[in-house]
Amino acid sequence: MIEFRAPNRAEMALRQEWLADPEFMSYNAGWAVEFAGYHRDTGCVDFPPEVRGVWYHVWVGGVDRDYWFVEDARQHIVGHAHYRIEIDEDGRRVAEIGASIHPDHRRRGLGLATFAELVRRLKSPGRVDVVRNSFEETRTGAVRIHLALGFRPVDVDAGLDSGRPVTTYELAFGSLSA
Ligand SMILES: CC(C)(COP(=O)(O)OP(=O)(O)OC[C@H]1O[C@@H](n2cnc3c(N)ncnc32)[C@H](O)[C@@H]1OP(=O)(O)O)[C@@H](O)C(=O)NCCC(=O)NCCS
Repeated sequence: MIEFRAPNRAEMALRQEWLADPEFMSYNAGWAVEFAGYHRDTGCVDFPPEVRGVWYHVWVGGVDRDYWFVEDARQHIVGHAHYRIEIDEDGRRVAEIGASIHPDHRRRGLGLATFAELVRRLKSPGRVDVVRNSFEETRTGAVRIHLALGFRPVDVDAGLDSGRPVTTYELAFGSLSA
């Protein structure tokens, strides 16, 4: 149903287009934070040409992370997905994941398939202990997808904005195989 593909450098222009698209980025709007390049009114994030090269080098096929375009069965690029591995305070290897589907392609099952593929790629033996994602409960699609894949809520945090709690979901491979 979907395939992950490593983008080439020139395709970072498409990522820039998405990050500058208020419809695509509306889920990210309204955070009471000050980050350079973050636009609170729209949720958009600057991704100018001068930062793309370094970003690409670090993220695409990176040492502790990766980033892909998501293609549908007709090989149309419909979204993007990524992970980054960190060691938590208990020494667990935790993969923080994320993905977005372009608004034109939502509600077709592509989001579920995308997160399922992220989990499949991270599940290879010994790779990570835990897969984690954090988002607001108002993101109904994200909540349904993570619960369907076996993730469970482990924490609710005021996070960046006390008026907008964020729930952390985890999928622990060790407990699944027990
Ligand atoms: C969350 C997101 C990835 C879902 O993508 P999608 O392709 O629309 O999801 P699917 O079509 O696979 O739907 C999965 C489930 O969520 C439900 N769903 C999706 N969007 C929904 C919405 N806006 N309201 C209610 N239910 C929704 C679907 O009905 C489906 O439920 P079901 O399996 O019980 O029938 C997409 O909305 C998105 O990119 N949002 C912005 C970024 C984001 O929140 N990413 C996730 C956290 S990192």
